[in-house]
Amino acid sequence: MNILVIGSGGREHALCWKIAQSPLVDTLYCAPGNGGIADVAACVSLDASDHAAVIEFCTEMAIDFVVVGPEDPLVIGLVDALTDADILAFGPTAGAAQLEGSKGFTKDVCAKYNIPTAAYGRFDNAADAKAYVEKQGAPIVIKADGLAAGKGVILAQTVEEALAAIDDMFDGAFGEAGAEVVVEEFLTGEEASFFVLCDGENTLPLATAQDHKAVGEGDTGPNTGGMGAYSPAPVMTDAMCARVMEEIIKPTVKAMADMGHPFKGVFFAGLMITAEGPKLIEYNVRFGDPECQVLMSRMTSDFVPLLVASAKGELDGCDVEWRDEVALTVVMATKGYPGSYAKGDEISGIKAAERKTGATIFHAGTKLDDGILVANGGRVLNVTAMGSTVTEAQKTAYEAVDTVNWPGGFCRRDIGWRAVAREQGK
Ligand code: AMP
Ligand code: GLY
Repeated sequence: MNILVIGSGGREHALCWKIAQSPLVDTLYCAPGNGGIADVAACVSLDASDHAAVIEFCTEMAIDFVVVGPEDPLVIGLVDALTDADILAFGPTAGAAQLEGSKGFTKDVCAKYNIPTAAYGRFDNAADAKAYVEKQGAPIVIKADGLAAGKGVILAQTVEEALAAIDDMFDGAFGEAGAEVVVEEFLTGEEASFFVLCDGENTLPLATAQDHKAVGEGDTGPNTGGMGAYSPAPVMTDAMCARVMEEIIKPTVKAMADMGHPFKGVFFAGLMITAEGPKLIEYNVRFGDPECQVLMSRMTSDFVPLLVASAKGELDGCDVEWRDEVALTVVMATKGYPGSYAKGDEISGIKAAERKTGATIFHAGTKLDDGILVANGGRVLNVTAMGSTVTEAQKTAYEAVDTVNWPGGFCRRDIGWRAVAREQGK
């Protein structure tokens, strides 16, 4: 098969790395790709929002299957356009991608199908949102309804903070994404992510992960796209996974089919494991970045037949195998991220770090400039290691980090800290 992967992050490097290992693949392309993806796929410059150009490329290169990495192209209907052109594609239609594209949509699905989630209100004006906050009190959570690159969520500790966040959102702090606002109950517990493939009707649970969103050690400071992750998530026992399938995932599959938007692709359920049980924080409709990097590192099955089965509606009876080991990834970012940062710093020592430690380094924001690898984004490298425990995987990952030569970069030194503390009986 000829396969085209859409995207340019660490997630897409991990997907390409895994897909390239499949004996089913003839030629693998990635659009636009990055400096590391170029090792495993032919990178092509294509604008994913130009559906006609993507379809033309697929026809010209005899692409049999397209795998869409990020949420933006899904939400604007790339899979719909490819399907209309008879090109098989992995990922949800625009209708089904509303699960990520609109938080209010998802909350209404939860309400209608009794899916456990935080109590909420949906508002299209500041006055009503504020009245709801005054009634509920703090802490409380204010969310922009639409896509805001993971930044449209304010955890307000006081009513004043919540009211100010509501004003900011309706004043356009998150652009169109904030034209509607969801206000919800503040949940407490341990967070985990659960990934489940779906073909519109049948499901195949993949694996669990925990990530670190905050830029600073001890999970402090502003939120980012993710500074590191590990898999599996200790809190997601087999019993907890089974419960989430019955109480959250399967009702969602039914809801989406009932609404005429059968969900094909991967559910990335953000969960809070509360004292009362698992509650849905949010859905994403694509793999997590950097969660995908740890998932792909642990998967031993050929992934291509599973992705194809999801797209074709043939997941029934499919199975997936994993390494028993833990995978942990540390994100190396450009100094200044998630604020402003410079581009173009040279990076070296990646292959040496991989050889020395056995770690795998996925590239996120890198590019090749006349054959020299340079930083080209906020999150730049995902240093990923395996171990029999989180402690062991963490140690190897940081050995590899310390072998990479990139003075302009930084990382958190405590990825996996909760699990490490647990392993050490603290
Ligand atoms: P989201 O973009 O919806 O995943 O939210 C980003 C982060 O905010 C989540 O990963 C949680 O850490 C936190 N969060 C979101 N909603 C809630 C909630 N209702 N209660 C507590 N924390 C939340
Ligand atoms: N790491 C969080 C995300 O991909 O949304």
